[in-house]
Amino acid sequence: MKTGTPVAAKILDGKALAQTIQAEIAAEVAEFVRNGAAPPTLAAVLVGEDPASQVYVRNKQRACERAGIESRMHRLPAETTQDELLQLIGELNDDDSVHGILVQLPLPEQIDEQQVLRAISPRKDVDAFHPENVGLMMQGQPRFLPCTPHGIQQLLVRSGIEIAGKHVVIIGRSDIVGKPMAVMMMQKSKGANATVTVCHSRTENLPEMAQTADILIVAIGRAKFVTADMVRPGATVIDVGMNRTDEGLSGDVDFEAVREVAGHITPVPGGVGPLTVSMLLYNTLEAARQQVGKRG
Ligand code: GUN
Repeated sequence: MKTGTPVAAKILDGKALAQTIQAEIAAEVAEFVRNGAAPPTLAAVLVGEDPASQVYVRNKQRACERAGIESRMHRLPAETTQDELLQLIGELNDDDSVHGILVQLPLPEQIDEQQVLRAISPRKDVDAFHPENVGLMMQGQPRFLPCTPHGIQQLLVRSGIEIAGKHVVIIGRSDIVGKPMAVMMMQKSKGANATVTVCHSRTENLPEMAQTADILIVAIGRAKFVTADMVRPGATVIDVGMNRTDEGLSGDVDFEAVREVAGHITPVPGGVGPLTVSMLLYNTLEAARQQVGKRG
């Protein structure tokens, strides 16, 4: 090959890795049940008819079934009140046969999301959104890791991408992805020890910041926001975006252009999304194990 010829990035196949991880979890669930425990059980709560949320929850349920995890669906109408939702969460908290509770976000506007997330028992909080679990993770003592950042970390580690000492630039500061991702990447622990920069909608010189990344993680929710000139040649680019556009589903990265520059890149779909589901299954098994341990 001539020097200077651009080499297209290696595709990080999140879908394939998600299947591998789900097979590992299925084997562990089978052993857990063989040892006399009840099957790990997830209660999923969906309020309203948001089409994207319906797809996400259905994918989560199917994955549970494939792994031997019981999933119980609670569908509530869009007009559900805060009190009605809190009542259901209270019942699920008190039900010893439920190990994990997931309330799909976003919630309708009459409902206070933060109050709902705080109402979920921290021991059943398989999304790791409760302040107690956020705090434990922040201090490097996680009870559960949040699913999307954990999936990204697994993808990097299992793809052999060096993280320690590298510059990870995260674009986006959400509670679900950007903030916890930053904390996890900077921890003094395996699969971490990175130097982290978080950029967001108010960052000055964002393209210049992005260009300094060894690993660029993009979760800003704008279709094709990251263009090829924002990526250092050879960098790893992780696209968390799921934007519905007139041309169909698009990530936050201009995939076709950026793949000519990056060393590794995730596709959308088939990148980060399936790994989020795998790590939810992981947390549900972990919750069941912790609850058996508590009672035994
Ligand atoms: N909405 C978008 N991502 C997520 C997630 O990871 N968990 C929940 N519960 N809702 C979401």
